[in-house]
Amino acid sequence: MQHLIDTNDFTEEQIKTIMEDAKTFKKKMPKKLLADKLLITLFFESSTRTRSSFEVAAKRLGASVIHLDPSKSSTNKGESLEDTFENLAAMEPDGVIIRHEFNNTPKKLANKELTPIINAGAGNYAHPTQALLDYFTMLEHFKTDTLKNRTIAIVGDIVSSRVASSGIRLFTRMGMNVVLVAPKPFMPDNDLPKYESLDDVIDSVDIVMSLRAQLERHKAPIFEDYDEYAKEYCITKERMRNRDILLLHPGPVMRNIDISDEMLKDRRCQVLAQVRNGVFVRMAILKELLLDS
Ligand code: CP
Repeated sequence: MQHLIDTNDFTEEQIKTIMEDAKTFKKKMPKKLLADKLLITLFFESSTRTRSSFEVAAKRLGASVIHLDPSKSSTNKGESLEDTFENLAAMEPDGVIIRHEFNNTPKKLANKELTPIINAGAGNYAHPTQALLDYFTMLEHFKTDTLKNRTIAIVGDIVSSRVASSGIRLFTRMGMNVVLVAPKPFMPDNDLPKYESLDDVIDSVDIVMSLRAQLERHKAPIFEDYDEYAKEYCITKERMRNRDILLLHPGPVMRNIDISDEMLKDRRCQVLAQVRNGVFVRMAILKELLLDS
């Protein structure tokens, strides 16, 4: 039974296969490879992209998907997460796709070895399918099969971001240079190069990944309001100028705070390409987890 808690659950060979399969699926929809499979989605936090992308991916492959909405489940009657999960697992699905506020929830459930667990975002620790779809989008953009020595600047509220955590682990493993741009309180504690201003490093980056400012997660306010934050960290045309830099964002984008309206329309901004690619990458991941392992 293989779980996906973070991208390090996949070997480099598996990641290569996922990238190749996603590319193949994007060219031509495959047959219903997972026609006899059933997945349950269990999202304890809100989602626009990840939940629907998983559902589209599963259905494109012929799998059935059941969604349990925790706000309408017996969680309301005091049922524990473990009990909810064990009851779902007793129905013998082929996997449970879970999003939860706590970093260790997917691992804790995976350790029960009842059904494959696919992490759709846990705390600020990991969002592996987002990291893999971002990696795919970069490979596609640069028309290459390696991103070794390419430099990505991750900009914004990095310390709160599971996208950044998974991305940093995957991108460095794949030989990329990762630099972090954030005000000190948004900066995680690690050995990567750190900048407070994007202007100080923008001339040496190939990719900018902007992150949502999650000011609501910070107990002590660092900025008075979002406008003050945006003055320093919003990705605008003035900041990007005519540099040939790929601009990514995992979503949801806070317009004119993370990225300006003008930059969102710019050809360098590939936010919707990320969402489109997410379906193909998740198809490839489901195939890898449910069929190939
Ligand atoms: N990127 C991402 O996780 O978006 P959602 O929160 O909408 O799923």
